[in-house]
Amino acid sequence: MFLEENKPLAPFTTFGIGGPARWFVEAALEDEIVEATVWARERGLKLFVLGGGSNLLVADAGFDGLVLRVGLLGIEAHADGPTGDAFGEWVYRVAAGEDWEHCVRRTIEDNCAGLECLAGIPGTVGGTPVQNVGAYGQEVANVVDRVRAFDLKERAFVELPAAECGFGYRRSRFNTTDRGRFLVTRVDYRLNLGGAPALRYAELQRAIEESARDGRQPGLAEVAAVVRRIRSAKGMLLVEGDADCRSAGSFFKNPVVSEEQAARIAATSAQGPPRFPAGPGAENAGRVKLAAAWLIEQAGFEKGYRLGAAGISSRHTLALVNSGEASAADVLALAGQIGDAVEARFGVRLEMEPVLVGF
Ligand code: EPU
Repeated sequence: MFLEENKPLAPFTTFGIGGPARWFVEAALEDEIVEATVWARERGLKLFVLGGGSNLLVADAGFDGLVLRVGLLGIEAHADGPTGDAFGEWVYRVAAGEDWEHCVRRTIEDNCAGLECLAGIPGTVGGTPVQNVGAYGQEVANVVDRVRAFDLKERAFVELPAAECGFGYRRSRFNTTDRGRFLVTRVDYRLNLGGAPALRYAELQRAIEESARDGRQPGLAEVAAVVRRIRSAKGMLLVEGDADCRSAGSFFKNPVVSEEQAARIAATSAQGPPRFPAGPGAENAGRVKLAAAWLIEQAGFEKGYRLGAAGISSRHTLALVNSGEASAADVLALAGQIGDAVEARFGVRLEMEPVLVGF
């Protein structure tokens, strides 16, 4: 185990913000993960598990504990359909440290459907079940078969079937009821060999119609390419030197509100906010998800707005950006200003989406 001291964390985050980790270790094997967690526990140190750093805001003072970077690699696929033949369902067992985009590309090359709309998302595989990564009509909860994790409470590896992961919109048991308990080491995705791409999101449907005017059925690779193009236009694709992607993607979740509240909000403007289904489950009955970007704009913020060195992306209102030397405090000041204005205008408290580390 190679331990480093006072390791700057900003370079490990897409925001490019944050102080040092008191201790830092990279684990490429499950045994090393166990060893590192024992080391931290014996010293009474807090533990933070780092993946791709694409959904984090690290405090300016850093993290006073052990940061464990998960570097487990490997993708293995096998047919697992009811008939056991090579068609139909395939399970991809992907180690947590694999780059997400690499994983998506691999499944598309293999002509397996299920992840095509999740192309172009930064981060690693291990983070995907934690926040139930979703975009353009798909979310990993639809295809996760099981999650392998080290249970820090029981000090043993466990394999949790999807039904035991507590998935919801941007949530799972890993970031709610059992936050900090499980360290994800592998995710198994159940995909569909030869399956058709998912075309559920209106914006994606429109873009596909434009790119395939001859009316033919688009393939998985084509859908993924269109998703990347849409993301890029919104500054949501990591491109070296592009100031708009020094961010953590969406900084706020889209609020899920009651129909009555949505109607009250709609009455404040001629057009009303874009609405999306709240999702399955009894807790979502009679509720609707509203576009946070719209609420923020209606509360008086424009794309490109600045508060000190933090700002709003010039291409998508939901992304806060580090416009230079922003500190975590600058970002939180801006987030507070936006949150207060939206609440004052609409009575809705926006929830932050990124994980806060060291606060
Ligand atoms: N809108 C604005 N201003 C903007 C951008 C969007 O008013 O600058 C309005 C538009 O009317 C648009 C609506 O908001 O119709 C929705 O915008 P978009 O399609 O860009 O999606 P989103 O709701 O803002 C969510 C996810 C994204 C995901 C997209 C596509 C959350 C918090 N964000 O954004 O995920 O890529 O849908 O599915 O749910 C992320 O989590 O980091 C992320 C980028």
